[in-house]
Amino acid sequence: MATYGNYQGYQGSAARHAHSGSPHGAHIIDPRLMELVACVPGLFSEKRVLDVGCNHGGVAVDIGLHFNAESVLGIDLDPTLIQHAKSHLSFQYSRLPPSDTAGATTTTTTTPTTESVRSANYFPISSILTHGHIPYPAATTPPTFPRNVTFSTSDAITFFHLPSPTNPDAMDLDTPSPHQRKKQSQPRETEQPRENEFDTILLLSVLKWLHLHHGDAILPAFFSALHTALRPQGRVVLELHPWESYEKAAKKVPGLRGRVGEIQVRGGENVVRVAGECGFEVVAEVEEKRDGKGRVRRRGMVVLGKR
Ligand SMILES: C[S@@+](CC[C@H](N)C(=O)[O-])C[C@H]1O[C@@H](n2cnc3c(N)ncnc32)[C@H](O)[C@@H]1O
Repeated sequence: MATYGNYQGYQGSAARHAHSGSPHGAHIIDPRLMELVACVPGLFSEKRVLDVGCNHGGVAVDIGLHFNAESVLGIDLDPTLIQHAKSHLSFQYSRLPPSDTAGATTTTTTTPTTESVRSANYFPISSILTHGHIPYPAATTPPTFPRNVTFSTSDAITFFHLPSPTNPDAMDLDTPSPHQRKKQSQPRETEQPRENEFDTILLLSVLKWLHLHHGDAILPAFFSALHTALRPQGRVVLELHPWESYEKAAKKVPGLRGRVGEIQVRGGENVVRVAGECGFEVVAEVEEKRDGKGRVRRRGMVVLGKR
């Protein structure tokens, strides 16, 4: 059971269901990314991006390949999904034209065009399945695709050192212990993010799971930690579940049944209000879309900046 929303083969958006059987809709750019750059140009270009709850890595790989990101780190608490994400990265790299896999150039652009997407799918999927993946080129500085994308198995609670019953040793990010300070000066593997480390942090359809498992108290702790990890002009993207989706998840996951009743911060606008109390303001919004029967066809997204 996907207790944390850790679905295998998650598509993220109704539009991706249109793909024709390739792993994770590999030849289709996640439509949420196109909508985001349409309202916030440069959201990913030359940026350090963190994708929290990256699942099979489709979004992180799209950003690293198509949107000219300086770096993308995808974290997810499910190690199997992180294995899939690493494999998807290698798969997508193996489909680039030979000129790109030689390490000399990349196909990255600030906003993908039909041409760049076609070029990124140069080798047919069948040829990769038959002949296997292409080894990565030597590392360069700065790293280019695929080395600008990394994945790590990590629970956001631990990663951001959030206080939680499951993480009793966690403490305030603003007052690091000597142990934390020592870690901050070391090269990082999966330790806590440094202050001002990221330009763009994505929380796509993940906050509900943290909220349900850890209750209302996690929200101010999490938003404060995000505020610290974000650069001054940085952006946090929230794709929020409507309240009915919380109730649905609580019905499906036995351990969450009691928890949902304890939640007071209900609905996207109230979650955003908590973010506002932690120093964020809304800089852009992509509206939720519902069909004639009132079912959500596309979740709304909110882009936050530091006030
Ligand atoms: C519904 S999926 C969304 C995937 C992806 N962000 C997207 O929108 O395409 C939620 C993901 O968040 C991950 N997740 C849930 N709680 C998490 C946590 N505390 N730390 C890290 N990842 C978490 C799950 O494993 C799952 O892959």
